[in-house]
Amino acid sequence: MSVDIERLLECMTWEQKLLQLQIVWRPDGAERAELARRGLGAAFWPPSVTEVNALQRIAVEETEHGIPLLIALDVVHGQFTIFPTPLAQAASFDPSVAADDARVSAIEAGTNGVNWTFSPMVDVVRDPRWGRVVESFGEDVYLASELTVAKVDAYQRSDSGGVASCLKHFVAYGAAEAGRDYNSTEVSPRRLRETYLETFRTGVECGAMSVMAAFNSLNGHPMHAHRDLLTGVLKEEWGFDGVVVGDADGVAQLVDHGVVADEKAAIALAFESGIDMVMGGTLLVDSQGVALLSPEEVSSRRIDDAVRRVLTLKQRLGLFERPYTDESAAVSGAAAEHRDLSRRAAERCAVLLTNDGALPLNATGRVLLAGPFVRSRDHLGAWVQHFAEPVRETLADALARELPGVEWDVVDGAGFFTADDDAIADAVERSAAADVVVLALGEPSGLSGEAASRADITLPEAQRRLIHALADAGARIVVVLVTGRPLVVEDWVDRVGSLLCVWHLGTEAPAAIAAILSGRVNPGGRVPMTFPRAIGQVPIHYDHERTGRPPRIGGSLLNAPDALATDVVAEFTGPNNTDDRYTSKYLDLPLGPRFDFGHGLSYTSFELEDLAVSAEATTTNRLADEVILVSVTVRNTGERDGDDVVMLFVTDEVATVTQPVRRLRGFRRVQVATGASVLIEFTIGRDDLSFWADGEARTLEPGDFTITLDDGTSRLSTRLTVEPA
Ligand code: GLC
Repeated sequence: MSVDIERLLECMTWEQKLLQLQIVWRPDGAERAELARRGLGAAFWPPSVTEVNALQRIAVEETEHGIPLLIALDVVHGQFTIFPTPLAQAASFDPSVAADDARVSAIEAGTNGVNWTFSPMVDVVRDPRWGRVVESFGEDVYLASELTVAKVDAYQRSDSGGVASCLKHFVAYGAAEAGRDYNSTEVSPRRLRETYLETFRTGVECGAMSVMAAFNSLNGHPMHAHRDLLTGVLKEEWGFDGVVVGDADGVAQLVDHGVVADEKAAIALAFESGIDMVMGGTLLVDSQGVALLSPEEVSSRRIDDAVRRVLTLKQRLGLFERPYTDESAAVSGAAAEHRDLSRRAAERCAVLLTNDGALPLNATGRVLLAGPFVRSRDHLGAWVQHFAEPVRETLADALARELPGVEWDVVDGAGFFTADDDAIADAVERSAAADVVVLALGEPSGLSGEAASRADITLPEAQRRLIHALADAGARIVVVLVTGRPLVVEDWVDRVGSLLCVWHLGTEAPAAIAAILSGRVNPGGRVPMTFPRAIGQVPIHYDHERTGRPPRIGGSLLNAPDALATDVVAEFTGPNNTDDRYTSKYLDLPLGPRFDFGHGLSYTSFELEDLAVSAEATTTNRLADEVILVSVTVRNTGERDGDDVVMLFVTDEVATVTQPVRRLRGFRRVQVATGASVLIEFTIGRDDLSFWADGEARTLEPGDFTITLDDGTSRLSTRLTVEPA
């Protein structure tokens, strides 16, 4: 039955309203039941559909108003069947990968009583020191927005189980100073709009049912008390009518931020600012039924608004009509069809970063397989629950199955963090008899995720020792890099023949990696977040703004004149020497990153041809309701079928505020058979050419734009002129 929310609100007491506005984690079943009996609004998933129904029965049948519970869980990239991490999904440049994750997750979690997932994380991130990059869709707003829409839609669509999505963490959490989790952020209003708010705006626009506040302060204002953004922008400007939930103890931590004296004041401030539901902390109504806050301490109008949002969310989920979950339909594990989807996703997320021809591996010959990920099953990545389907096999098992004609010599060589000289010496000795050495190296899942920032984002030293020892011995090396983040690979990348980045690919990782190494699957992923040459370059991202002194050549201290070593070189030849010396670069690094956003190789090759636009000139008025059509042909010039990713970038050549050197405004992943060509079409509209200046809305300025089609290897550009009016 549909409930009359206004009437229900009128019948609720102050205490009953406050109880609806809190979610707590209680491992003890009896305590969970007691809180449901008191009328709590939400609970974390008790680990079974049977207990979910027991809790719902208490909420519906043993409380005065019978309001069902929201049952929440962090289903970030899988419940039982684990998909590649969100950053890996971004590397696929294929929204269907993210949608498959969300749809399978909604089925596996929804049929077990979960009706609210704290996902997708839509924070844009440009600092790989921050451990939560693994949960993000990387550095680009457009790519992240496309995947956001795919996930929100797939989580919430009723045929996939219909769980409420939650856009997190609002906002600019990814801009944590120094990449240190939970740290302060300072972001200009323009950057906030252009980069950090945009994925949330897109998610709200496509119907996300909830938003989670971020732990960080933004320009001195903790997000759990940021009224201008939580209420002013999110609710009033964007019209968001869902629920804003605090992050774990994020409301209570306003005390630690130093903006309130105690938790009671924190709760009042958070509600007044626009938080609708508190996660964790002191119970808003104690076991005696006494409310922590009175209507004199927080406005009853605000509390009513928050309760209305929570009740509306429950109604949208159909909980009033169907509070119970059909236990006979509960999915109990990773079904074969879900595994297949996870493996397909994994195959599409891997990025071939370098290849001197060592990949794909031959089907015969002798291969030395070494490194900590040879026998490790740690491929699930951060943010999986303890009941996730474990990885069944090791990479060694999968490769032996995939390439039975190869004589495999399998050794550890080094651990994740330790290596002894004998093990390395043994690997070196064995390499002499091998045609190629495959090293499976990288970060265990625990090195990324929440509270997992790293100040040094290189491979652990033990693993680097193994690489260098084998390279010193002249081995031909293929590195399979398992990682939660972009890593600095500078000291060894040029010593290996091929480098395949496989992120954390989930339940089916070993099979997917083996299929790529054998060539049965041609990798097509692209870098979704820049790989720096050195940690000193961070933050670094492709859509950086121009400077007044763009560099033409990089720096190097390899053969630096002694004068540089002994005293300040006073070779100041005046301000005109801005061609090389006095430009924006590092003395000790070549220009640019090690691997740029969008980079990725294939076992075949592609050529972009016949770039065409429907008009080379238009006007600001016409762009109000017209689009420019852009088409390009992708030709497969190699010997294998393969996927190409074609990206459309826009460059605003002259504007009243500095612009990014280019911005992604379209991408297509397309399969092209060897020798064949495929036509790809894009549209360019007003939003693709406009930007946030310093005002209160996006602005479109007339002028010249460069439209570039780029697949990471070949690039075509054309000019588009926008005339005034
Ligand atoms: C964590 C995370 C958030 C998660 C929440 C509930 O601290 O910041 O992403 O959804 O707690 O588990």
